[in-house]
Amino acid sequence: MLVVGGGGREHALVEALAGSPREPELFAAPGNPGIAGIATTVDIPADDLIGLRDFALENQIDMTVVGPEAPLVGGISECFWEAGLKVFGPSRPAARIEGSKVFAKEVMRNAGVPTAPFTAFDRQEAALAHLRARSEYPVVVKIDGSAAGKGVTVARSQDEAEEAVREAFSGRFGAAGERILIEEHIEGREASVFVITDGVDILPFLPAQDYKPIYDDDRGPNTGGMGAYSPIGWMEPQTYAAVLEEIIRPVLRQMSLIGATYSGLLYAGVMVTDEGPKALEFNCRFGDPETQVLLPRMGTDLLELILACGEENLVGREIAWSAEKAVCVVIASEGYPETSSSGDEISGLDEIPPGVYIYHAATQLGVDGNLQTAGGRVLNVVGTGVSVIEARARAYAAVERIHFPGMQYRTDIALEAMELEDI
Ligand code: AMP
Ligand code: GLY
Repeated sequence: MLVVGGGGREHALVEALAGSPREPELFAAPGNPGIAGIATTVDIPADDLIGLRDFALENQIDMTVVGPEAPLVGGISECFWEAGLKVFGPSRPAARIEGSKVFAKEVMRNAGVPTAPFTAFDRQEAALAHLRARSEYPVVVKIDGSAAGKGVTVARSQDEAEEAVREAFSGRFGAAGERILIEEHIEGREASVFVITDGVDILPFLPAQDYKPIYDDDRGPNTGGMGAYSPIGWMEPQTYAAVLEEIIRPVLRQMSLIGATYSGLLYAGVMVTDEGPKALEFNCRFGDPETQVLLPRMGTDLLELILACGEENLVGREIAWSAEKAVCVVIASEGYPETSSSGDEISGLDEIPPGVYIYHAATQLGVDGNLQTAGGRVLNVVGTGVSVIEARARAYAAVERIHFPGMQYRTDIALEAMELEDI
């Protein structure tokens, strides 16, 4: 098997696949030093579709699992399928659900899915006129294409919204910024919901909570995710059922209807409001760092499910979950999310305490073989335990042993879950 990508999500994926009773021979491209302990890493970047395909052909890879969105949006599935290779991941037209926010909103609207009302604009003047005519703020301004989490502004005032619109059309985002969305702001609690789907049947994961802003109390700019926990005690089972029935299934039916049948892992970002759950966005891949709190708790062989998805044989299957809780704290390097730093030596990873998983996200080996930082989100520290209190305490105790210059992490991951816990 080949896992494409080299972050914490891919480390967790490789670890889950390595635990399969089928004992797959595992490769990761490009992988990272953490992954190198359990799989053979291959120095091919995740966006080199032809390089990856040729590697898969030469090494008779039976199944490829794609971590990041860029290769999926860029058509890695078609590239592999045309060569007779199997991929767990959506086709290029289906991956547009993440690649174009306007496309995703149109799918949601046509599927009758609850989501914030929106208008799409391809001209700055029209967008600004729309803002001048409105009286209610906040409003949300989004650029259509992918912008590594930087393309969404929740604008509290008309000035802020106008600035976001000007910035969107400034050319800074390239083709991704040629169209924008202006949508209503919705209040509620956010959750990430994953399903494995063959386009018709779904196999739901438990929901997870992600923390996007860089600082405690959700302050500061958005990041790719600074922490996560699962399960989420505050989400009622009927709310979760509503996410599946009113958001995910109608979207899958709509995708099939327009000839873009979705298969692989579908990630719905939802806002649970007083009126029920509403869809915020869809991603065409596993979430990062939510995957890191889900896979360690999974009692079913992930590889078996991936193979069953490819055979359209998901009916009657279920994912078993351990009763344990999991809390993930992301350790980022200095300057993240605006910039990041590399080459700082990391210490404190010699002994991993029980109940703790360390996933490498942006690490590299220095010339003398020592572990160093290599980007923004450096390490993911996951604590597990019978309670959120225990899982959280284990995660933070392990975090405190780790050191590198300029390291930053949030201290409030799963805090509200711990306070809600009834033990
Ligand atoms: P997205 O990439 O569309 O999920 O947006 C990034 C983040 O912006 C989300 O995780 C939310 O926190 C916030 N957001 C996006 N759309 C809305 C909305 N309509 N109302 C409130 N917050 C939103
Ligand atoms: N954690 C957010 C994402 O994976 O998009």
